[in-house]
Amino acid sequence: MAYIEIVGGKQLSGEVNIQGSKNTVLPILAATLLINGVTKLNHCPRILDVEHMIEILIDIGCTVTWEGSSIIVDARGLSTDIVPTDLVKKMRSSIILMGALLGRTHSAVISYPGGCTIGARPINFHLEAFKQMNVVLEEEDGLIKCLTSGIKGADIYFPSPSVGATENVILAAVLGSGKTRIFNAAREPEILELCKFLISAGARIYGSGTGRIEIEGVAALHQTEYTAPSDRIVAGTYLAAAAGAGGDVVLRGIGCGSLYVVIQTLKRMGSRIKCKEDSISLHSDGTVRAVPEIITEPYPGFPTDMQSQIMSVLMKASGNSKIVEEIFEGRYQNVPEQARFGAQICLQDRVAHITGVPALKASEVSAGELRGGAALVIAGLMAEGKTIVNNPYHIQRGYEDICRDLRALGAQIEYKNE
Ligand code: EPZ
Repeated sequence: MAYIEIVGGKQLSGEVNIQGSKNTVLPILAATLLINGVTKLNHCPRILDVEHMIEILIDIGCTVTWEGSSIIVDARGLSTDIVPTDLVKKMRSSIILMGALLGRTHSAVISYPGGCTIGARPINFHLEAFKQMNVVLEEEDGLIKCLTSGIKGADIYFPSPSVGATENVILAAVLGSGKTRIFNAAREPEILELCKFLISAGARIYGSGTGRIEIEGVAALHQTEYTAPSDRIVAGTYLAAAAGAGGDVVLRGIGCGSLYVVIQTLKRMGSRIKCKEDSISLHSDGTVRAVPEIITEPYPGFPTDMQSQIMSVLMKASGNSKIVEEIFEGRYQNVPEQARFGAQICLQDRVAHITGVPALKASEVSAGELRGGAALVIAGLMAEGKTIVNNPYHIQRGYEDICRDLRALGAQIEYKNE
């Protein structure tokens, strides 16, 4: 059985290049279906979620190959609108294929992705939006069958920002007729990148990265090549690791812009951080200050995908901290595993009260989901002695090789299989 073995309690020191962004590459891979040609996407991470998305694209008729860290997608062979259920279950974010299939083939058949450890993950915003865009939806045996005589532009008002729903509407609208305006759109950097990619292929999109996005449908998109940015959550994870374990690290290939709130929070916790155009340096003496309150919010607020990692660091803070998880109701599922390190965390619904302890104790724990698993690795780096993290495949869904990267930063960590 595979696991990660960490010998913690040591300061980190070193430099690491940050992998391509998972949450940028996944929607852009879906967007390649809108191009009746070949797309080259550079700086892609070799992670399970990307492999699953490639498996789906091949299953529905595309030709997809890797060239180093580039992915080449030829979508001319797209032959079906049915997304294989077993693959949707493996990766719920494949739901964004709906918008792309509707845009290209005017139909899509996909199973309900269902919830996951971190929450129910409903898709009502997505479906309500499609109905307004001239899509007829039928639900039968857990499948959603979507059909349109042609996507029609509409005004879409989201009750609250949703990354996936914003992406799905953009993907459906770029080849539709008329203008689609999205109000209360998600403003994550990954939305901006998706729009930049689509614009490079000839789409007409205005306002991406703001809460109001306008898409003017065009007849067709043309071939393009695009380079994905580095993964801001992977970078944030490694910064948190160094903040908790102490040391001096440099992350290359990423600036502070998309991590502003995380950087500010780590500075409040006692780290010294220097931002350059294409690198972030962090110094920490390993002591951590408590933070009175951190609330997870849609971008540009504190990202929910960094909540578990910051919680691990705060477990050793001098004083009491509070985290309010406003995005995913299930994100505290990881807390019982974090508590095995001797942490004192009290949960009251969406609020976690963390009372810092002087030292964490090495432990054997199990990852239950992607970011929670990364948080357990961080705790293992902070705890004196040997920590075992089971079920590392959860972590491999989003981190190309967390052991390789943290070893580059001086950690004693490796994958083992027994
Ligand atoms: C994306 O998920 C990311 N995944 C998540 O990253 C990230 O945590 C999340 O955005 C928030 O930033 C990818 O980009 C592949 P949402 P998504 O729709 O699109 C509610 C990771 O670790 N909602 O923005 O599924 C929903 O319940 C992953 O890389 C509805 O109510 O998130 C949640 O409370 C985890 N109805 C909130 O909106 C809907 O139809 C935000 O969800 C859709 C969403």
